[in-house]
Amino acid sequence: MKKSTSLLLASVVAMGMFASTANADIKKGQKAYLKQCKKCHGNGTKGAAMKTQDEWAAAFANDGAGFKAWHKGTKGEKYTNGKKFKKYAPHLKDFLYEYGSDSGNVPSCG
Ligand code: HEC
Repeated sequence: MKKSTSLLLASVVAMGMFASTANADIKKGQKAYLKQCKKCHGNGTKGAAMKTQDEWAAAFANDGAGFKAWHKGTKGEKYTNGKKFKKYAPHLKDFLYEYGSDSGNVPSCG
């Protein structure tokens, strides 16, 4: 009994840690969005609502192949092929997915 209680406690703690890490990435992604996407797509609420959660997930699969395809041949192409996009893509995905048009979530600022 005692053992299972501590096991349960450990998994609760682990889950709490996981949740706060995920949140940090959403924040990082939001920051990156404001720095990197806002100038072309407007604020984060508008940006994330451009696509549904499934569409964001698909766009960031395969090294962001779908995402790059959206920007191919546009003024955004240079950015999506650049280092910054590569570096921040996982955070951007967390942010955009969290606030996708069908998520029901709205970022508090930005
Ligand atoms: C230098 C300008 C520029 C930057 C930076 C840029 N984009 Fe774009 N983006 C465009 C252009 C131009 C298009 C194609 C025309 C359109 O749909 O607006 C596009 C297309 C898209 C589309 C597809 C729109 C649709 O209707 O299917 C999405 C989604 C998108 N961008 C999201 C982002 C996100 C998120 C970022 C930041 C990680 C970003 N873009 C960075 C210029 C940019």
